[in-house]
Amino acid sequence: MKQIFRILGGLLTLAVVVVVVFALYVQARGIPRYTVPQVAAAAVAPGAPAQLALGEKLVQASCADCHLNQQTGRLSGHQLLDTPKEFGAVYAANITQDPAHGIGAWTDAEIVALLRTGIGRDQRYRLIMPHFVYMSDEDVQAVLAFLHSGHPWVKADPTPSHEQEPSFLLKALANTVMKPTPLVPGPHVAPAPTDTVAYGHYLVVGRYQCYECHSHDFKTNNALHPEQSAGYLGGGNALVDAQGQPVLSRNITGDRATGIGTWTPAQLAAALRVGQSPHGPLRAPMPKYTTMTDAETAALYAYLQSVPKLTNNVPLSSPAVATR
Ligand code: HEC
Ligand code: HEC
Repeated sequence: MKQIFRILGGLLTLAVVVVVVFALYVQARGIPRYTVPQVAAAAVAPGAPAQLALGEKLVQASCADCHLNQQTGRLSGHQLLDTPKEFGAVYAANITQDPAHGIGAWTDAEIVALLRTGIGRDQRYRLIMPHFVYMSDEDVQAVLAFLHSGHPWVKADPTPSHEQEPSFLLKALANTVMKPTPLVPGPHVAPAPTDTVAYGHYLVVGRYQCYECHSHDFKTNNALHPEQSAGYLGGGNALVDAQGQPVLSRNITGDRATGIGTWTPAQLAAALRVGQSPHGPLRAPMPKYTTMTDAETAALYAYLQSVPKLTNNVPLSSPAVATR
């Protein structure tokens, strides 16, 4: 008997020591660093008007919600209030052309490495920022051209990026499950818009990454094989709106009872462009894709109706009040 207690006592002490050592390790290591991947990105020449227009549209759809500061009117960053409180305080960085406080001193290759993998030029892993793994090279070049342009959003702004204040939980996640995405060798070429289903697939996993929010959970999303994410496009991912209130992403597969199988193309276009769904106004963080073209909404409709239908009746959590 005594022997057993001694063994159990020993195991318990060992378990406590392991937990304490892990906690000290996480606390000391903080947010991990990684080798910066070498991206073969040619410096982007001053953009032609069509390229700048595309860049503006992509930045407005996929970067501005986090990086645009309403006070400065520039992409100078601000605290993200729609991240879970348990993560601590998270701040989007200043990505204006300021060489000291923005990204004016970053090379295009460094920006592309960060966009695709999450690893910054200083090797620090950038948290929360999505990874644009399959965005086409053409789209990435348009984003770069916009960041280098004369647009008021990107004018040098001397506001320093706020230090991150990650909670212990976020640090623990960053040392275990939250990892940079490996660089997928290019070239990354988008299908022709006339190839509607293939183009819609590109929009969902590459350009706008709808699948990230609309699959079951960020933690089970598969960045390298998005279609293998748990509950792909079936919704139910627990997100937070601009007021910090819980909001579940919705089922956007073609299931007739619980998805968008009975919707018309015009209803989908209205949900995307003006945030008006047959269920009522859509809350943040669902972006408003105000400049989406007819070709894009038609392709999204064709693709979403073609994916495996999932039955997932997502409750409309809390009153659907428009927040943007
Ligand atoms: C969900 C919010 C979110 C979105 C969307 C987002 N970012 Fe970020 N971004 C962040 C956060 C947060 C940081 C700071 C992360 C850190 O320091 O750990 C960041 C950091 C960066 C940095 C590094 C700057 C620095 O000095 O460290 C660049 C460059 C950047 N973002 C560009 C972009 C571009 C371009 C887009 C759109 C294509 C984009 N981001 C979309 C949240 C976001
Ligand atoms: C940052 C997360 C996020 C991204 C990215 C996102 N969505 Fe959403 N989406 C949501 C949330 C959250 C809701 C639910 C809003 C509500 O209930 O008020 C929603 C709602 C919707 C709805 C309404 C469905 C219904 O039943 O009313 C459609 C359609 C939709 N999204 C399609 C898309 C498409 C297509 C894309 C990509 C082009 C996309 N979403 C990108 C978070 C996101």
